[in-house]
Amino acid sequence: MRHSAAMSGNILVIGGIGQIGHELARARWPAGLATQFVERDRLDLARPAEVKAAVAAMRPRLVINAGAYTAVDQAETERETAFAINRDGPAALAEACRELGAALIHFSTDYVFDGSKHGPYTEADPVCPLSVYGASKAEGDAAIAERLDRHVILRTSWVYSAVGHNFVKTMLRLGGERDELRIVDDQHGAPTAAAELARAAIHIAAALDAGKGDGFGVFNFTAERGAKVPPRVRPIATEDYPLPAARPRNSRLDCAKISRVYGLVAKPWQDSLADCLDELMGRALSPRTAQGAAR
Ligand SMILES: NC(=O)c1ccc[n+]([C@@H]2O[C@H](COP(=O)([O-])OP(=O)(O)OC[C@H]3O[C@@H](n4cnc5c(N)ncnc54)[C@H](OP(=O)(O)O)[C@@H]3O)[C@@H](O)[C@H]2O)c1
Repeated sequence: MRHSAAMSGNILVIGGIGQIGHELARARWPAGLATQFVERDRLDLARPAEVKAAVAAMRPRLVINAGAYTAVDQAETERETAFAINRDGPAALAEACRELGAALIHFSTDYVFDGSKHGPYTEADPVCPLSVYGASKAEGDAAIAERLDRHVILRTSWVYSAVGHNFVKTMLRLGGERDELRIVDDQHGAPTAAAELARAAIHIAAALDAGKGDGFGVFNFTAERGAKVPPRVRPIATEDYPLPAARPRNSRLDCAKISRVYGLVAKPWQDSLADCLDELMGRALSPRTAQGAAR
């Protein structure tokens, strides 16, 4: 359940109505961690000059930033907005945290890479984004690292949940409309549940709050193993599905570091996807439909 926005919490969460933010808002938090969630109307990352004052007024011990400009294709024509929200806003957040002595947990993306590496990307691999969105996120990560030592950047890929826009919901819709699905099958990565990312962020927040977390920097965190294409799907190449923003073909991230430092391993993607589908089915099956089905 969402914690009161009016309550003065020691953990400030930005972007609480996005996919990851929604999971943070309804998660069970450890006792002693009071949260306050703010939306864009109270803290607008696109207005970096106001971000510092807004954060300072709330005096958090830790900030979790789940807010971002995530419209990958639209970013190609909205470069300034993407950079304001994904680079300048996080830079201002990092400065505000430094002045307060607070830590910052932030989310990053596989799109900071061009996908040309053979094998999974580690945290030490140099970034080389193909798109405006990827570049804005990469520069946001760098801006945080330059300004604040006590930062944790969770780098992930292909996020989905029962809320918001994502490929799982798109596939369910198209599957109901079409006899055959044509799916790009030459991009490799791990679909990662927003709920798993929220679990990781809360685990790290608790460790940092207890003074036990001493692992800072970038950490890859994705579900295990890539997807196998099911038989009724016709595989197509990236070129056959042109989009404004280029995507990396290899989005695989090596998650050994977060497992070693924080003991965090994501559930296998099949388990998380099943949870998400259960939730979506539960929503689709309204009490009225359920009654009808029972007759
Ligand atoms: N989605 C993916 O596949 C994916 C993959 C890898 C990494 N990530 C990263 O994971 C993080 C969360 O992604 P997500 O999928 O949960 O995103 P999302 O569902 O698109 O949610 C983004 C959130 O950011 C908020 N936001 C947008 N502009 C803002 C602004 N100017 N000021 C304050 N808040 C603002 C949105 O609020 P409004 O509703 O008001 O716009 C929304 O709550 C991001 O850092 C993203 O880059 C995502």
